[in-house]
Amino acid sequence: MSMSMCFSSNLLTLHSPKHQGLSISFSSESSQFIKLFQVRSTPYALPSSSFPRRLYEPLNFSRENKLKLFASFTPSEAVETATSTFRNKTPKDINVLIVGSTGYIGKFVVKELISRGFNVIAIAREKSGIRGKNDKEETLNQLKGANVCFSDVTNLGSLEKSLSDLGVSIDVVVSCLASRSGGIKDSWKIDYEATKNSLLAGRKFGASHFVLLSAICVQKPLLEFQRAKLKFEAELMKEGEGNDGFTYSIVRPTAFFKSLGGQVELVKDGKPYVMFGDGKLCACKPISEPDLASFIVDCVLSEDKINKVLPIGGPGKALTPLEQGEMLFELLGKEPKFLKVPIGIMDFAIGVLDFLVKIFPSMEDAAEFGKIGRYYAAESMLVLDPETGEYSAEKTPGYGKDTLEEFFERVLREGMAGQELGEQTIF
Ligand SMILES: NC(=O)c1ccc[n+]([C@@H]2O[C@H](COP(=O)([O-])OP(=O)(O)OC[C@H]3O[C@@H](n4cnc5c(N)ncnc54)[C@H](OP(=O)(O)O)[C@@H]3O)[C@@H](O)[C@H]2O)c1
Repeated sequence: MSMSMCFSSNLLTLHSPKHQGLSISFSSESSQFIKLFQVRSTPYALPSSSFPRRLYEPLNFSRENKLKLFASFTPSEAVETATSTFRNKTPKDINVLIVGSTGYIGKFVVKELISRGFNVIAIAREKSGIRGKNDKEETLNQLKGANVCFSDVTNLGSLEKSLSDLGVSIDVVVSCLASRSGGIKDSWKIDYEATKNSLLAGRKFGASHFVLLSAICVQKPLLEFQRAKLKFEAELMKEGEGNDGFTYSIVRPTAFFKSLGGQVELVKDGKPYVMFGDGKLCACKPISEPDLASFIVDCVLSEDKINKVLPIGGPGKALTPLEQGEMLFELLGKEPKFLKVPIGIMDFAIGVLDFLVKIFPSMEDAAEFGKIGRYYAAESMLVLDPETGEYSAEKTPGYGKDTLEEFFERVLREGMAGQELGEQTIF
C-alpha cells in the first residue's frame, strides 16, 4: 500500500514500497551466458517546511505560467485548456510533465527537454534508479534543471494530488515509464496502469499531447510486458480520436546500446562472444540514449509526428549478433572467438519452467524471463513488414549519429557504468 502527502512549496515527496522481484544468481562461469538474457526489471510526502530547502529545485516557470501556478484547477477548466493548442507557444512557456524521468532513457529526455528550453516537471520516486540506489538528493542532482516532483505514478489519486498541489497546468506528457523487472504483475502495473495514470492525470491538468516511449517489439506481442504496452497504446490512440484536439506520438525504438554491451568486458577479458544459432537469427539498428531522447523531444512539437506510431533505430545498417561480435574483436585487435549456442536450449529451459509454474505458480516471473530471453535471441528489433511478414532493415528508419562501434570503444575504455540493464538476471 502506498501513501501520499504533498509539499505546499511546490515540492512533493512520495515513496512507495519497492517491488520485490525474483532474483536469480549465478556463478561467475555462467555470467557471460546469463548476460545474454538480462532484462530490465514509491511514495509518502511530508510538508515542505520539514525539509531542507537545498533539496529542492526552484520552479522556473515562465511569468505566464506563474500566474497559473496557484490557480486551482477544475476538470472543466482542464478540458478547456486541453482544447487550446500549446504548439504556437515557445518552449519556455510549455510545461512538459515527464514520468519515468529517472530511467536510462528518461534521464536523457529530461536533459534534452531542458536544453531545448521547456519547463520540465519530472516525476520521480524518493528512491530512484536500479534497486532504488539513488536517494532524493542524488535524484535531484540527476534531474538538475527540472522541477522535480516526488510522487507515485502507480497511484492516480497521489499523482493528481501532487499535480494539484504544484498548481501548474500541463501541456504535454512524456512517458518513459517501464517495469524495471519485466515481471508479469509489474509490467501491467507500470507499462499499463501507471502509464495510464500519467495520461489521466496529465489530461486532468490540461495536457493536450502525449509522447509515449514504447518498444518496436510490441509489433509481435508474445510477452506480457508487450501486451501491457499495447493495451495502453490502443487506449492512447482512442483518446486521440476524440474531438477535443488531443494528440499523441508513440515512439517504438529498436535496441538500446545497454542491451548489446553485456559481453564487451567479458570478451575484453578473453572470453568468447556468445550467440545463438549461427549468430544471424536476429538483427537490430541500435540507438543511443541521447539520440533517442532527441527523437522523443522532437515529438513534443513536430507536427509531422502527431498521431503516429514511430518505429525508430539508430544510424547505419542493421547488425546481427555475429556482426556485433566481429566488430568487437576487430576493435580489440583479437582473433574472433565465438560460442554458438543452439536456440533449442532456450526452448528446453522454457518448457521446464512452464511445467514448474504449474506446480509452483510463484515461478511465473522466472518462466516469463525465460520467454523474454528466447524472444530477444531470435526476434529482430526491426520493422515487421506487413506485406512480407519479414523483418525489414530498409523499412526501419534511422536517426541520430551515435554508432554501436563508438559505444563499444567507450565501454572498452571506461566500462559499463551507467549501462546496467536492470533489476533481474534471467536465464
Ligand atoms: N532495452 C532496450 O533495448 C529497449 C529497446 C526498445 C524499447 N525499450 C523500451 O524503453 C522503455 C524505457 O526503458 P528504460 O531502459 O529507459 O527503462 P528503465 O531504465 O528501466 O526506467 C524505468 C523508469 O520507470 C520508472 N518506474 C519503474 N517502476 C516504477 C514504479 N513502481 N513506480 C514508479 N516509477 C517506476 C523508473 O523509476 P525508478 O528510477 O524510480 O525505478 C524509471 O524512471 C521501456 O518501455 C522498454 O521496453 C527498451
